[in-house]
Amino acid sequence: MDPVERAIELRAEIAHHNAAYHTNDAPEIPDAEYDALVRELAALEEAHPELAVEDSPTQQVGGPVSELFAPVEHSVRMMSLDNVFSAEELAGWAGRIDRGLDLGEGSAPVSYVAELKIDGVACSLRYEDGHLVQAATRGNGRVGEDITANVRGIASIPQTLSSSAPPVLEVRGEVYLPIATFNALNEAQEAAGEPRYVNPRNTAAGSLRQKDPAKTASRGLAFWSYQLGQVEGGPELTSHSEALDWLGELGFPVNPERRVVDGINEVSALSDSWLERRHEFDYDIDGAVVKVNSLARQRSLGSTAKAPRWAIAIKFPPEERTTTLLDIQVSIGRTGKATPFAVLEPVFVGGSTVQMATLHNDDQVRLKDVRPGDTVTVRKAGDVIPEVLGPVLSKRDPASTAWEFPSDCPVCSVPLVRPEDEAHTFCVNPACPAQQQARIEYFASRGAMDIDGLGDKMVQRLIEEGLISDIGDIYSIDWERVGAMDRVGETTVTNLQNAIEVTKTRPLASLLVALGVRHLGPSAAELLAKSFGHMDRIASATAEEIAAIDGVGPKIASVVAEYFRSDVAIELTEKFRAAGLNFEGPEVVDIPQTLEGKAVVVTGGLEGFSRTGAADAIKARGGKSPGSVSKKTFAVVLGNEPGASKVTKAEELGIPMIDEAAFVALLDSGEL
Ligand code: IVH
Repeated sequence: MDPVERAIELRAEIAHHNAAYHTNDAPEIPDAEYDALVRELAALEEAHPELAVEDSPTQQVGGPVSELFAPVEHSVRMMSLDNVFSAEELAGWAGRIDRGLDLGEGSAPVSYVAELKIDGVACSLRYEDGHLVQAATRGNGRVGEDITANVRGIASIPQTLSSSAPPVLEVRGEVYLPIATFNALNEAQEAAGEPRYVNPRNTAAGSLRQKDPAKTASRGLAFWSYQLGQVEGGPELTSHSEALDWLGELGFPVNPERRVVDGINEVSALSDSWLERRHEFDYDIDGAVVKVNSLARQRSLGSTAKAPRWAIAIKFPPEERTTTLLDIQVSIGRTGKATPFAVLEPVFVGGSTVQMATLHNDDQVRLKDVRPGDTVTVRKAGDVIPEVLGPVLSKRDPASTAWEFPSDCPVCSVPLVRPEDEAHTFCVNPACPAQQQARIEYFASRGAMDIDGLGDKMVQRLIEEGLISDIGDIYSIDWERVGAMDRVGETTVTNLQNAIEVTKTRPLASLLVALGVRHLGPSAAELLAKSFGHMDRIASATAEEIAAIDGVGPKIASVVAEYFRSDVAIELTEKFRAAGLNFEGPEVVDIPQTLEGKAVVVTGGLEGFSRTGAADAIKARGGKSPGSVSKKTFAVVLGNEPGASKVTKAEELGIPMIDEAAFVALLDSGEL
């Protein structure tokens, strides 16, 4: 295409996305794709300088200022940052810094501050005489929007500063929504049948620009400060790192990950380590920001129309991309839950190629109105399963129609059921092959019984061969028939046999998790195993008894109690018992009361117990350990050099006298 035409097209497209992102808080395309458009335009303008115009989006910050809020003129411009996408580009930038500072070969490496690039909404806070007087968005960099009333509801932003605050202080930073808060918000949305929020950044932007400040306050936004704006008075600062430390002293939240580093290679290594730890933080980051530390050097480097030359953003690989939605299908999980999922044109996002992504449930598909054939935005953040965020409406085929949730189970054809007050739809046929397969896969999975070699494919084959149909069958597989299966060698059979054998000694909590009872996860399973100490006691416990355990909620309690009353569970438990699976919990907190009401006197030293240890062991089993023998004494334990008077008394009264070995047996059984 003609470069002039392409430049015009790109400018229009970028202007459209600027408005969507900055003004309407409703971006249509992921940041990575926006960045690509800007880069294409910048490359065109560089190759054809005659195309460069002053009002090109490559020369501007942000988007049009909305009319929702009063305009605020920034006393010091709020600039954007230029980006690099690789270590090579970063090195190129550092070379320009060296040249800009006239540093020749052999000069000391430049000192930088490396910070996290928080993926939120830029905000400028103005304090006069220590009081917050104004908060503004970045807007177009010169004029932003007055969001003071809303910002007053953000807990981590101080309203007043200590007496050491200067007469005028502007602090810039990022308003963000903590991920835990975002997830909780989405759970509530889903439960209420409302659309899920797309990502923490958009939600933060939408929450910050509410007309009602109470709404903003209720969202749980937070703030990281990373830059000074206008400052009048205050200490003489010579470096950016000093400025950040000072902000911290004044009571502003400053991200603790910041580091002063010498030389760009170290910056690169730090940025790589942040990329690796990206999901350890309770906020989204989309890169690292590198700033020349010396403020004098910053001044000498200056800025372009849009961004400072002394700072650069190292952008991380995107976690959101667009692709084509090829189809919507429904999968049936181990509890029968029918989850719609997207079949996608494969796309590389969040570090791997994604071809399937969840759509959560019926309501969410309807609310998002994604349709097969749509271009959709896909998000994959860390280990979280990929998700379809929504359609790119401007690319929709006008002839497309809304997708309908199927009425019957796609696997067993039994009608699907959506219980009242439930956001999810279920296949209620326990014999549904999809459920059976999912239950067996789950039983064998890492967090459960961890059976090496019993992966999805093997499970499917064993089911197809009629060798297993539920998790109880795993321990009575006909191995001869497995050996006779196509492409199954002797080693495979032996390995699988061994892998199944070792599961018999797995902790009770793993077995409980492996049962796949709805809501019963590893932490509740651990609590059950510890508190009840045995599978049979869990199986016979009432919901009230289960709910009495600290940390187990009534919902899990009733589901677990109900599960163990079912015929399926009773039959399975017997199969597992017969197979010899471990039903014992860990060290039983609740020690059997073998000595209830019995007085046991210990005299003389014992090998395996201290004096108080022996008494504790007796008391822990409900017994008493008095200091003298009476006719009520159940037994006298004789250790090394027993007390003569006690021995005589026991003899007189005919009280049994036992040695240490018999004492140990007594503790265990309560009998002599
Ligand atoms: S410094 C003049 N530091 O990224 C320098 N910005 O893509 C101004 N951001 O507009 C920015 N974390 O909203 C700076 N540690 C950080 C940042 C950061 C996130 C945002 C900020 C900026 C945008 C540029």
